[in-house]
Amino acid sequence: MNKLSIRLGMLFFIFILLIESMLFFFLYTGIVGERIQNETANLLARGTTHRDVLEKNFDHTTIKHVALMESEAETAVVITDGNNDIIQSSNDVTEGMQRLISQSMTIHFTHHGELLEDRWRTEKYLATVSPIVINKKIEGFVYMFLDTKSIRNMIQELTNQFLLIGIVSLIVTLITIFFLTKFIVSPLLEMKKVTERISQGNHDSRLDTNRDDELGDLARSIQSLSDDIERLKKDRNEFLSSISHDLRTPLTYLKGYADVALRPTLSNEQRNEYLTIIKEEAGNVTALINDLFELAKMDENQFTIQKQSVKLIDLLEKIKLKFQPAFQDANVTLQITCDSSIYVFIDPKRFSQVITNLLDNALKHSPQKTIVSIAVHQNKKKSETFIIVTDQGEGIPEADLHYIWDRLYRVEKSRSRSTGGSGLGLAIVKKIIENHGGEISVKSAMNQGTAFTIQLKEGDEI
Ligand SMILES: Nc1ncnc2c1ncn2[C@@H]1O[C@H](COP(=O)(O)OP(=O)(O)O)[C@@H](O)[C@H]1O
Ligand SMILES: [Mg+2]
Repeated sequence: MNKLSIRLGMLFFIFILLIESMLFFFLYTGIVGERIQNETANLLARGTTHRDVLEKNFDHTTIKHVALMESEAETAVVITDGNNDIIQSSNDVTEGMQRLISQSMTIHFTHHGELLEDRWRTEKYLATVSPIVINKKIEGFVYMFLDTKSIRNMIQELTNQFLLIGIVSLIVTLITIFFLTKFIVSPLLEMKKVTERISQGNHDSRLDTNRDDELGDLARSIQSLSDDIERLKKDRNEFLSSISHDLRTPLTYLKGYADVALRPTLSNEQRNEYLTIIKEEAGNVTALINDLFELAKMDENQFTIQKQSVKLIDLLEKIKLKFQPAFQDANVTLQITCDSSIYVFIDPKRFSQVITNLLDNALKHSPQKTIVSIAVHQNKKKSETFIIVTDQGEGIPEADLHYIWDRLYRVEKSRSRSTGGSGLGLAIVKKIIENHGGEISVKSAMNQGTAFTIQLKEGDEI
């Protein structure tokens, strides 16, 4: 047994008890009251009927006849004379009857007849008395008695029935508690255990996710939470091992070049060359760490996107200006097609970062005399804007396409100093676009080129 099912069970029990007491109060008291009223009215009516007969013929035969009639009934009659001495009775006159008969002289009664005793709970008889009046003179009395045992029995039976209902509801409550425990509380406890195990890092336990009710939903949520945590842990471990590798590699280079630069036989010129390499390599490590830091901030939602309406062509031209020398050096053409009427709702600084990263990649993977283009389309309702960055470079192998968004993922694993980026660029790009509520996708064909498509949905923000 446990707290929840007992609480629910008690609630259920209290409700049943409440309903029963209400039933008891209204039905029981109603039934009993009415029954007593009926019985007394009946008794009185019988008494007056006998009295009426006797008033017409107050003789021996009639008296006997009345007594005889009553002897078959549940009730008893006693007929007395004017002095209240017993003339005739239908049954044996018991002591209780006798007492009531003698007491009757102390009450004031009318011709209609009076109730002598109605305390059915404590007294042995209900009793009435009707005076026999002939020529305005009281000639005798008709006493009627009803044994209260039958009433008490009837009430007892009723009470027993109510008691029985009470016991049945108790049993029903116990059964309810049992089923509540079995179908609701036990699964909850099971889930509690599993979540505790999950928080301790144990993801082996499986929950029953086949139920089609809310508990099933809960179990499924917990299960998927557990799976997510497990996957996150795995990701984190993989990430940590690749990051340590990615930091170790350039540091090894650095150390190697530093060792070489320290050689005393080296000419100044050679030494400068090595020191330049060391500087470059150190710059790469710094960039990597900066990117990691940026991503960590994004993960913690510590960075905010401050959107504003931006004239896209201005933003793109500015970036083009910055990239122009690099493109010229590589003999690659950079083209921009964007209508000057196109405005987008973006964070200009973050979005520049996105375009910069994409152009950087495109340039890195483009051979001489090719074109890198940025084309922008906006649909008529201005609810969607597509920005497509295309190059005519080496392309991305089909097998790698899916992973390029992952942190530290590079198609070219060897990471030579010339092409070796951090592998964080596209992860940052994706994160920023998603934070803008947009989407980014890629299409690529080997040795033909790659196209990245950014889809911005304006929604009702503008
Ligand atoms: N335009 C492109 N053409 C060919 N390969 C690309 C292109 N853009 C990205 N890639 C591949 O995707 C990988 C991941 O890109 P990114 O996350 O920017 O990392 P990085 O540029 O630091 O290597 C790159 O290593 C590269 O192999
Ligand atoms: Mg890159």
